Amino acid sequence: MKASRYMLSLYAAMILVPLFLALDVFATALSSPAGIRILEILIAVGLLVYAGMGYLEVFVNKKGSAKSLNRPVEIGPHGRMPDKKAGGQDIEVELRRFNMEKKRLELTPYKVNANRFTTVLDALLSIKSGQDSSLAIRYSCRMGICGSCGMVVNGKPVLACETGLLDNSKDGKIEVEPMQAHPLLKDLVTDFDDFFEKHKSIEPGLYRKNTAEQRKAASEYKQSKEERDAYLPYSYCIMCGLCMDACPVVNSNPKFVGPQALSQVQRYHLDSRDQKGEKRLNVVDNLDSVWGCEFAGACSEVCPKGVDPAAAIQALKFDMFKEYLNVGKGKGKGDEVQG
Ligand code: SF4
Ligand code: FES
Repeated sequence: MKASRYMLSLYAAMILVPLFLALDVFATALSSPAGIRILEILIAVGLLVYAGMGYLEVFVNKKGSAKSLNRPVEIGPHGRMPDKKAGGQDIEVELRRFNMEKKRLELTPYKVNANRFTTVLDALLSIKSGQDSSLAIRYSCRMGICGSCGMVVNGKPVLACETGLLDNSKDGKIEVEPMQAHPLLKDLVTDFDDFFEKHKSIEPGLYRKNTAEQRKAASEYKQSKEERDAYLPYSYCIMCGLCMDACPVVNSNPKFVGPQALSQVQRYHLDSRDQKGEKRLNVVDNLDSVWGCEFAGACSEVCPKGVDPAAAIQALKFDMFKEYLNVGKGKGKGDEVQG
């Protein structure tokens, strides 16, 4: 602000010089210039003192200048400035952190100043940068795309980067804990190895009858808009694992392949380019896969991308029935699939 005061003085001088000239003309016209002269001198001295102080601050006293540029400012996590106009509010974040040594969750409360734009992830990063650097969090994109920041807020699995702190606090408090369906590693970080193994087990990917041709395809496999729309919603999965955490079957049967993997079975099963046919369905035609689903629907409720795994699983059940009815009629489209 010192520099702007200096500039203000220069601008004021530019205005005052013509003003003084005008006053001189006025004083000559009145033939009694003494009062006007005193007024001019007072204004000029005031301006000189004001400009001189600004000049000293900016060009001579470097310490003062540096102080003005490096004044302590409230910086949010990763340099984000809190929106002062929106008004801040202190929120108590009741964090349940997984203690690796003691193998148990421990409740630690933290206070975070939040405005209406602060997300749960912002609050956690602010705790990590300003209160406890040992806090372990997993995140990447901060915009609901990478699927890394899944955790449980007030008992519901959510993406921390898409969950508002103020919106979800009750009486100035919010509860944050790690997801429970995945093995706990540290604090809020969970192990996704099993999740990815289950995803791989359904063989995600396009399979063609002629694998040699697929490896060296002469051109792309064309699709109509309708054919693409059939599987598109299932392709929006970001593998955040929230559906797995919400699913009561996953939480009671660790072998259950789960809603995420099953929704991806449906994604490839509906793809007109895929030729795996009933072989794809056979992989999940058991009690630890499609037939383990009790249609609680919790998976679809928490999915941040609207994938609707519950609907996918019921559709798979229906297609399996159709396949059973077609047994012996040789109608399966994957009869000659090599992959
Ligand atoms: S189906 Fe939805 S909730 Fe489940 S992993 Fe994919 S994006 Fe996440
Ligand atoms: S940080 Fe990427 S989805 Fe939240």
